Amino acid sequence: MTLFLETSINLIKHNKNAQNDRLARGKEVMTTTFESFVLQHPRVRFGFGAVQSLPEEIRLLDMRRPLFVTDQGLVNSGTFDRVLQTMKGKKSFAVFDTTPENPTVEGVDRALEMYRNEGCDGVVAVGGGSVIDTAKALIVVASLGGPLPKYFGHPELITSAVAPLIAIPTTAGTGSEANTGAGIHPTATSRGSGINSNFIVPRVAICDPELTYTLPRHLTAGTGMDALTHAIEQFLAKGDNAHGDAIALDSIRRVFQWVERAVEEPQNGEARWHMMLAAMQAMMPLKGLGPAHALAGTFSDQNLHHGMMVTISIPAVLRMHERRIPERMKLMAAAFPLKAGQSPADAVVEMNAHVGLKSSIRALGFKGGELDEMAKDAHASFFNERAPYHPSVDEYRTIITEALGDTP
Ligand SMILES: [Fe+2]
Repeated sequence: MTLFLETSINLIKHNKNAQNDRLARGKEVMTTTFESFVLQHPRVRFGFGAVQSLPEEIRLLDMRRPLFVTDQGLVNSGTFDRVLQTMKGKKSFAVFDTTPENPTVEGVDRALEMYRNEGCDGVVAVGGGSVIDTAKALIVVASLGGPLPKYFGHPELITSAVAPLIAIPTTAGTGSEANTGAGIHPTATSRGSGINSNFIVPRVAICDPELTYTLPRHLTAGTGMDALTHAIEQFLAKGDNAHGDAIALDSIRRVFQWVERAVEEPQNGEARWHMMLAAMQAMMPLKGLGPAHALAGTFSDQNLHHGMMVTISIPAVLRMHERRIPERMKLMAAAFPLKAGQSPADAVVEMNAHVGLKSSIRALGFKGGELDEMAKDAHASFFNERAPYHPSVDEYRTIITEALGDTP
């Protein structure tokens, strides 16, 4: 609470300064647009041991027979079993444990078949973004009917009639437990698409940092830095949502303070606690994402880790922002632990190296693509809709070249 308060006060001070700067120099326009916004947060059970509240939350939602959705990685690591142990003595549930690594329409259809065959009336998602996004799509088709692709780009078709969903994240990164989107690939090798609606925000998010202790080092780094990228893009996105901005800045501070410790010391409860909170906070503003996530869409047929892709790409995006929205960047920079002369882009590059991430998309395993096509694809992405401005195809060409690690 104190942190939120400090953040808000700092934000007000910086807003005042920024306003004075604008008046003095008449440059970047950052007027209030009075754009309306919706705050749609799940009920959150957060803390060590929070997972023990699962049976009670199932009862409160009046779920008689939930379908647990998870994946083989979580079954093999024993994490899913830890969650299931809380259901001891309760027999009325079913388990779908073959969610694909990247969420696909086919995966949702298989889960739907089990949901119907087992007579389920709600979903408990235990996993990372793929599992939670699959579960979000599942509650839509289970309650409103398929096929799933008809909801892509059509939020108006999704209503409050969707089945209840409890999300139990096992990574600290996607923030899917607290946001309105679900990324789904039409096929395993195609570029991502997805659904978006306030009604697919989970009814309950149970965030237990102990569930992230077994997350491998490279995934702790990739998902943790994905959270940072979310917080950055949410803060910079269009819209006057002061509540969301304060949460995003707090998330940025937490990631910089704790991500390296979580990578180096997987059992460090303090670091895991802060990272789990930062990841959820990063998606809570619900303002939208931006160019780094447009690039992730462009590169999404390359089978690269999403979090690593966006955090390797975002320094190039931030350098563009420094030129286009300097005042807004100045507000955000206050949350970065910058050394003298360092820019936010430099700070992300430095942290990526500290947590062991590659320095370019090419080093990450990019197999090739035509630059002009990729620039056009990124320019056409729906992630530009909420971006602080829409980069031109030329600007995307520059950003992609830099993210790939190529010399312009
Ligand atoms: Fe992301």
